Amino acid sequence: MSTVWHKAALVSDLAEDEPLTLKLAGKEVGLFQLDEEYYAIEDVCPHAYALLSQGFADGEEIECPLHNAVFHIKTGKCIKEPGRDLITFDVKVDGEQISVKL
Ligand code: FES
Repeated sequence: MSTVWHKAALVSDLAEDEPLTLKLAGKEVGLFQLDEEYYAIEDVCPHAYALLSQGFADGEEIECPLHNAVFHIKTGKCIKEPGRDLITFDVKVDGEQISVKL
């Protein structure tokens, strides 16, 4: 299946402590800012159903709001179960425009 860049958000739409919950190409995607970099991960927790972008962020980690699985935002690694590693998506920034590849 081919992958395509999707316009996701503007730089001014998010902040360190304000990730975005997005739906791109029918997929829920969480878009996070850490320092001046942007990271996109699958947003639906692989354990059951909760949106990770609405969870509890602690530095580079995000905790699922439902059963407290913890994931590394930059790599998608599952740090604390229940869960598995998340799919991550490439992100690019052109001026103000943030795009996500999926
Ligand atoms: S739904 Fe995320 S840990 Fe259960």
